[in-house]
Amino acid sequence: MDRKQLIKKYFNFFKSKNHKEIPNTSLIPENDPTTLFISAGMHPIVPYLLGQKHPLGKRLMNAQKCIRTGDIEEVGDSTHHTFFEMIGNWSLGDYFKKEAIEMSFEFLTKHLKIPVQRLAVTCFAGNKDALKDNEAAEAWKSLGIQKERIAFLGKEDNWWGPAGKTGPCGPCTEMFYWSPNKIPAPKKFDPKDERWVEIWNDVLMQYNKDEEGNYNEASQKNIDTGMGVERTVAILNNLEDDYEAEMWKLIIKKIEKLSGKKYKGNKRTMRIIADHIKASVFIIADGITSSNTEQGYVLRRLIRRAIRYGREIGLRDFTYKVAEPVFKIYNDYSKLQKNKKHILQELEKEEEKFNLSLEKGMRIFNGWERKIKEGFRKNRKKIKWSKGKYLLKGKEAFLLYQSYGFPLEMTIELAKEKNIKVDEKGFKKELKKHQELSRTATEGRFKSGLADDSEATTKLHTATHLLLAALRKILNDKNILQKGSNITSERLRLDFSFPRKLTNEELQKVEDLVNAQIQRGCEVIREEMTPKQAKEKGATGIFNAKYGEVVSVYTIKNCSKEICSGPHVKNTSELGHFKIKKEESSSSGVRRIKAILK
Ligand code: ALA
Repeated sequence: MDRKQLIKKYFNFFKSKNHKEIPNTSLIPENDPTTLFISAGMHPIVPYLLGQKHPLGKRLMNAQKCIRTGDIEEVGDSTHHTFFEMIGNWSLGDYFKKEAIEMSFEFLTKHLKIPVQRLAVTCFAGNKDALKDNEAAEAWKSLGIQKERIAFLGKEDNWWGPAGKTGPCGPCTEMFYWSPNKIPAPKKFDPKDERWVEIWNDVLMQYNKDEEGNYNEASQKNIDTGMGVERTVAILNNLEDDYEAEMWKLIIKKIEKLSGKKYKGNKRTMRIIADHIKASVFIIADGITSSNTEQGYVLRRLIRRAIRYGREIGLRDFTYKVAEPVFKIYNDYSKLQKNKKHILQELEKEEEKFNLSLEKGMRIFNGWERKIKEGFRKNRKKIKWSKGKYLLKGKEAFLLYQSYGFPLEMTIELAKEKNIKVDEKGFKKELKKHQELSRTATEGRFKSGLADDSEATTKLHTATHLLLAALRKILNDKNILQKGSNITSERLRLDFSFPRKLTNEELQKVEDLVNAQIQRGCEVIREEMTPKQAKEKGATGIFNAKYGEVVSVYTIKNCSKEICSGPHVKNTSELGHFKIKKEESSSSGVRRIKAILK
């Protein structure tokens, strides 16, 4: 079974259980400052898990492309991938625990034909906040999962949420598959044994955490599930290594051909190259280019790490060639096909840039390595090295970053291979001096992972609609479109199409108009309709494949009408005072405004 067949089977099954498909969205989250990439299928539906009504109903499903960047430096084993597809189903206050578990079991055993003998599950062990999940365990037992195959784990493994400080959360129950083909599954399930591979996670959102930190039984109980396509395809084809599956094989073959080396004997290196190039292709397809900030920095790290590993097996000028099979494997992603030329050019450009400095940087690094080790030998008695480790100075790591384009993480990895520690604090100090984005800031964003639907961001979200409408009116230009939006709890940031800088007078008028709309105390009305009806009614939006069959449209009378998934305030009078802080260029033909509410 290949990925397309698995996804189709999943959709057919959940369609038969009355689920509606929601679109596979961009990897770059909209209006969510807390994370750089979509990292789970549930990400686009967070507002609906929080209680907002979804236009397609209470039972949803999707196949969502995801990027997980937490462990780029750890990719290289057989089951971890930076890019992967997740299939999932949701109940928004409809069916709950027992039915969700029954559906999972039915799909695994009847439709994927996985023998019960090779399955095991984990349930929540309970803590001071929530009870042990005997209910889930009983549901599994009644379906035929033996008691010995059910393990109870704590909060680190079997709990989800809340997304922010408060809100829906609850225990998970995860499904594992015994991967070895030749060894029968042990009677007793040991979750620490890595031969048991996790394939599916059912999150059972049963509680609501309040401001005081209490976990109360939720009034709307949700189900959120996620199954990894790569792992599931691998196990269904009896493979113990994901990279032998069809969504990797062609890429690995290409690397073998270009390098003249075999996968066997170079597994880690080839997996890293294949993983990073595939992820880069999808990230570029969603509009990101290499840079030193945010998503662009992750992309740069991926490409440059792939290049460094490529050198180990003699590859040069290869990234765009390794990318070729990705377009074949994922020929169902039209965005990839449409942007193929641009994607390959971006890879080539980044590789050319890095080629110029990689060798020089490596020579400098090797020189330092020698010096550090000689110095250590000579001064062994005088120097107190932390736990006997050698240390590369922050200034040196910064020089590699600034002048030779070595991402800090790459220097750390290179140094680690030589048993050298990098003074990361010293590096950050240098970086700060140069006013660059620090690694901590970037990491902070992709650690937390979920949308922030606090009151402050909700208000700023509505203010963004008012701002876009005011720009169109004051600049008398109906062609102004939103090109991007990013909202934190402190400020909004709107990118919009407009060819020149705005004058101070225009900015003042825009600000005044937004404040007038706030003072008018207008109701914010939400309606559901098809994208076609929305267009006919004059709603703004980017009319493309992004939308499902039904969309939400938010209207502020005599002011604004936009397709949007929300959330928004009920009345503009809730917003307070609006103030523009900055107007600048974002890219060619696109301006950027940052504004706050006081
Ligand atoms: N959202 C859940 C996960 O990421 C299903 O595992």
